[in-house]
Amino acid sequence: MGKFEVLDHPLIQHKLTIIRDKDCGTREFRQCVDEIATLMAYEVSREMPLEDVEIETPMGKTYKKRLAGKKVVVVPILRAGLGMVEGILNLIPAAKVGHIGMYRDEETMQPHEYFVKMPSDLASREVFVVDPMLATGGSAIMAVDALKKRGAQSIKFVCLVAAPEGVEALRKAHPDIDIFAAALDDRLDENGYIVPGLGDAGDRLFGTK
Ligand code: PRP
Ligand code: URA
Repeated sequence: MGKFEVLDHPLIQHKLTIIRDKDCGTREFRQCVDEIATLMAYEVSREMPLEDVEIETPMGKTYKKRLAGKKVVVVPILRAGLGMVEGILNLIPAAKVGHIGMYRDEETMQPHEYFVKMPSDLASREVFVVDPMLATGGSAIMAVDALKKRGAQSIKFVCLVAAPEGVEALRKAHPDIDIFAAALDDRLDENGYIVPGLGDAGDRLFGTK
């Protein structure tokens, strides 16, 4: 079973509180999402495997560590996931970026896939799927389905705010993946919005409401 972990570093909590505020504007919202994504990438990458390599410092030869293991592909779920990409690339600049376009029908709450573009070596990469919100879990489940269908083997889901319902549904559908959130909130409302949450992440990020 993959793990579910809340990454509650004080800076992450502080910045998340800023963007939860209904009066936080687009510019500050975008900047904080970017910064939280960097902080989360730091925590999520803690377990990356290392290998010993021989190097030569000005003082002589020595064996030191460098990253081993799989290279990373960051996969934002459009649109809101886009807000987390640059923040992760700050720390993992060589990562490739795949895109999954998905929107949630506001009436039925069901996700609809409209775009998928992945690197050809997806199967050999560590996949970081990013989306600020894990609400019912429908979008995340469909995104992971789409990635597995294309050969992805090692997947981590990274979100800012998760609802218990979404975590449960995603773990049930894809027990093998790890899930990281900056916060686990109380519940979903009758429209499938996370409470207390932060509202519609895509609209707040792009100023479309
Ligand atoms: C939001 C959010 C997730 C999804 C979460 O996207 O960014 O992708 O809803 O809800 P779920 O867990 O119930 O599926 P939305 O569909 O609003 O699209 P957007 O990013 O284009 O605004
Ligand atoms: N999508 C969002 O952007 N916010 C929620 O609370 C739920 C789904």
